[in-house]
Amino acid sequence: MEIHFQSPFQETLTLERFPRSKATGREKSLRAWDAADEYLLHHLYDEHREFLEQKPTTAIVNDTFGALTTALRQLNPCFISDSFLAHQACKENLSTNGVESSQIHWLNSLQVPPKPLDLVLIRIPKTRALLEDQLYRLRPLLHDKSVIIGCAMVKNLHANDIQAFSDIVGPSHSSLAQKKARLVFCHYQSESEDHQKTSPYPSELSLPELDLKLTNHANVFSQGGLDIGSRFFIQHLPEQQGEKDIIDLGCGNGLLGILAARANPQAHLHFTDESYMAVASAQVNMHRHNPEQQANFYVDNCLDAFASNSADIILNNPPFHQQHTVGDHIARRMFKDAKRVLRAGGELWVVGNRHLNYHQQLKRLFGNCELIASNKKFVILKAIN
Ligand SMILES: C[S@@+](CC[C@H](N)C(=O)[O-])C[C@H]1O[C@@H](n2cnc3c(N)ncnc32)[C@H](O)[C@@H]1O
Repeated sequence: MEIHFQSPFQETLTLERFPRSKATGREKSLRAWDAADEYLLHHLYDEHREFLEQKPTTAIVNDTFGALTTALRQLNPCFISDSFLAHQACKENLSTNGVESSQIHWLNSLQVPPKPLDLVLIRIPKTRALLEDQLYRLRPLLHDKSVIIGCAMVKNLHANDIQAFSDIVGPSHSSLAQKKARLVFCHYQSESEDHQKTSPYPSELSLPELDLKLTNHANVFSQGGLDIGSRFFIQHLPEQQGEKDIIDLGCGNGLLGILAARANPQAHLHFTDESYMAVASAQVNMHRHNPEQQANFYVDNCLDAFASNSADIILNNPPFHQQHTVGDHIARRMFKDAKRVLRAGGELWVVGNRHLNYHQQLKRLFGNCELIASNKKFVILKAIN
């Protein structure tokens, strides 16, 4: 895997992807930056060098593994991301390149920079709702001279993304493509009527059939409705287990944990996800529906924050991609962590698409795997520690 990145700012940076799990197949050859990062940095170097020398107040939004932040660290930028993994990746890459992480102002997606912004660089995220929410949050910090540039690989950039910039911030257009990447140039316009609009996020999802109302921040998985895998899983959750520690691993809006709490009123619940918005949503939802029940909330990579032998049941609907990269590397890491964190006799409950073959992985890891339920598309599996 290539790890040396030639920045246009006359230096070679060492950049690695994170988490540094054993990658397989296509993941192995993936770099920690792409042509969209390169295009954006070259554009800044060619067109805005003098402006950069004046140290504009800068926000770098959704930097995947820290390539932009490491290259532009002299600006002491605000790093804004909803992903705990992205925060970790950027910190590791800064450290590898001898940069103190205190040079950067770290913000999650629910926080905004303290000062007006002269320069905003946005990697366009996978979820349009997140892009919209971020533009709504940043808009009050922009001014007529703010330089606002988005970047994305062509295959991940949609006309509606550019429209979101235009609707929320001001007139926007995209560049020609270079190495299959594009930039989006956006001009802040303070007088537009659209600017009176307020963010529709977080949104509310009513599920009367489950007697649930869920608050979803913009980047929450399946925020428009119930995911079909989760819908199947909730029909088969463990019940009446007594005073147990139950973890909702990759909790999203907390749906699985909230219903598990309802079915296990003496249990102590733990909600964890790598998305700040997911954990914030789960917290609101758990407090709304089960205010009396004990619960903890963690923004974390898989189960890093959990002690070994500390849980009885882990519920998991694993992710099958990291940002735009599809793969089961996070799922594999979650299963391995679950094995460490479960007490002897503890149970890992997993829902997954049939074709993902989680059955084999669980059998190999735990030495057993029971099929709890299946339909045409999904299986629910249980492995005992
Ligand atoms: C398929 S969704 C399931 C969400 C929810 N449990 C449900 O069933 O509706 C997978 C979740 O895993 C989270 N996730 C992805 N990578 C993670 C990681 N490394 N550590 C913890 N959570 C992660 C995602 O943010 C997402 O919320």
